[in-house]
Order: sequence, then C-alpha cells, then structure tokens
Amino acid sequence: MSSFFAVILSVFLLVVFLQYMLIRLMLPQALSKTGRALISLLLTVGINSVPFLYMTWTGTLDQLPWWHRELIIFPYAILLVASAVSGMFLLVVWCATLMLSLLWPGFDRGKRRFLSYSGRATVGASLGVLAFGTYYENKTPEISRLTLSYRGLHPDLSGLRLVHITDIHAGPLISYETISSIVSRANALKPDLIVLTGDYVNHNPDYIHGCLALLDELKAPAGVFGVYGNHDYYTGIDAMKAGFAKTGISVLSDCHQAPKGLEGLLNIIGAEDPISGWATDAQFQDVAKLSGLVIPDRFNLLLSHRPGIFRISQDWKVALTLAGHTHGGQVILPGIGERGFSLAGFFVTYTHGLYESEKEPEVRMYVNRGIGTIIAPVRLFCRPEIVEITLKKA
Ligand SMILES: [Fe+2]
Repeated sequence: MSSFFAVILSVFLLVVFLQYMLIRLMLPQALSKTGRALISLLLTVGINSVPFLYMTWTGTLDQLPWWHRELIIFPYAILLVASAVSGMFLLVVWCATLMLSLLWPGFDRGKRRFLSYSGRATVGASLGVLAFGTYYENKTPEISRLTLSYRGLHPDLSGLRLVHITDIHAGPLISYETISSIVSRANALKPDLIVLTGDYVNHNPDYIHGCLALLDELKAPAGVFGVYGNHDYYTGIDAMKAGFAKTGISVLSDCHQAPKGLEGLLNIIGAEDPISGWATDAQFQDVAKLSGLVIPDRFNLLLSHRPGIFRISQDWKVALTLAGHTHGGQVILPGIGERGFSLAGFFVTYTHGLYESEKEPEVRMYVNRGIGTIIAPVRLFCRPEIVEITLKKA
C-alpha cells in the first residue's frame, strides 16, 4: 500500500471513530449504555458503507448523469467532514470539561448535557457551512486575471495571454460536464497559449479517455502544453502517456519546447513530478538537468505540478513558474496574513496565489487553486479557478 493510501485510510478510520462517538453522544440519555453503543455502531457502519457500495457499483453509477454525485456522494462527504470537525471540537470540549470538573466538582453534573448541546450545535453549524462549501463554492470556478510586467520582456511578447488550468481530478467528484464547461470557458478567453499542470484524473483509469478527449478540445494558436502530477502516476502513468499521445497536447517531462510561432522568444520547461512526498515541498530528482533547460535570452516559463520547485527554480532566473497541486488547501481562513491561511500551509511552503522571489522581484510563481478536490468535495473561501495571465513590458 502506498503512503498516500495509508494516510487516507488512517484519516478515514479516525473520522469514522469520531463519527461513532458523536452519534453515541447525541442519542437520548434514556437509552441504556449498550443500546446507545449498538445503535451508534449500526448507524456508523450503515453511513460508511456508502463508499464501499460505490466502489462495488461504480461502473453502473458512473452511467448516471448527476444524481449519484449530488444525492449520494456529496451528502456523504459533507457528513464525513462534519463528523471530523465536530468530533475534533468535542474532543477539545471534553478535555476542557474534564479539567473543569477536576477543579470544580459541582460542574460535573451538567457535563454530559453540555457536551451533548455542543455536539448538536457543531454538527449543525458544520453541516451548514460544508453544504455551502460543497454545493456552491466547489461548483463555481472563477476566472482569475493577472497582468505581470517585466522590464526585460521582448516587445513581441508584450500582450501575450496564457491560460493556466490544473488539478482537474476527473472522477466521481468531477464530472465530464464540469470539464467540458472548463474547456469552453478557457477557449472563450481566446488565449495565445494554454498550459496544464497535472492531476488530470483522480485515480481511476476508466476516466482517462473521457477526460483527455475533452482536454484535447482546448485550442490556442501557440499550442497546449502540460506536465504530469502525482495523481497521474496513481492512475497509471503508462496509460496516461498513451492517452496524451492521441491528443494534440505536448506533455513535457524534464524537457523544454518552444511554442508555435514564438520560437526564439519563449521557452517552456516542463518538470517531471517527484511522485512521492505528496504532502511536502517534494524533492526534485534531476535538478541539474532541469536548470540546464533554462535559456538565458528568452522568457522562461516553467511548468511544475508541485509549487515546492520555486525554492530552487527562483535561483535559475525563470521569469514565471506555474504550479498547482495544493488546491489552495481547499479551505482558506480569510484575514490571516496577506493571502489568508490555507490549510495547505500545514504541509507546504507555497499554497496559493502569486509569489515573488525575495532576491529578484521579476522572478515569480503563481500557484493555481485548481479545479478538483481530494478527500472531500469541499472548498471554503477557495473557489476553483481558471487563471488568465497577460505578459506586459514594463
Ligand atoms: Fe491535485
């Protein structure tokens, strides 16, 4: 079992345990201890049979256009995350009430009732917030527009517009309808160039053909370029490569290419994904080879699934690095720091938005929040995005 699935399974089992404790706490006190334990166990097993039933019948369910996602998977995901949030909150409350009851014996009488009310309140609040995050934020990609000025930009590149799309994660949580809509919106921007930075399919190779056929409809005069992400390896890199070979998309794996009509001006470098270390800044294997792909007298555009590459690529004087992978953390707490605190900040250095090198302000990276999600289809203050960048001569 890969470390990725081991982590996912461990988190899942922890959340299921929290869910069991939460249900048990919320059952009426009039029931016996055994009765509460039995009912909680049956409800927990029943609720969590959804993903296993889904995996068993996924072939059948995927033929259905929308209702299995909207009416089964999404509510289940909301309930699972609500259980995690409420369970963790109640653990904190339980520790606090335990300390209070030790310091103040009279407090103990109301402890259980207090916990029960806290549980209901947090479950209710979590369900409301997560339903908003799932049914609104997660389903409404926005177009982020940036203009980046460079003193040394060749005049022929001034005004060049590129569109960046990443982390589609085609699968049960991201439908073909969603991908088709993203492709239409990107084409409607009429960019000169389109770039993709990996994680096209979440994990199931059955989605490769459908996803790549839709992405092949992306059109730009200078071409469509991409790199692979860690999920493309989980899906099966050989099948992904075979799929891309049938498209007009150029996937760059530790190599570079000049886009059509911009030869001598623009150098696109594609970094191969390190595959491992998905929750870290990641270690890139062939750094010397990558840095050797930079052409000093051209505008160098580096595509990397992992934003952690900026720790080293900023020393190569690559004017613009485009990355994804983090999904912006899927939840951003606004008002903390200049860009808000992304949950991805617990794991990686660069989470979302524009970064400038401290040594060279015109050496930049944009970390795209992506289209898809992992673990749960929930986003808060972190809408999916299509990024349009215009280069300008300063
Ligand atoms: Fe991703």
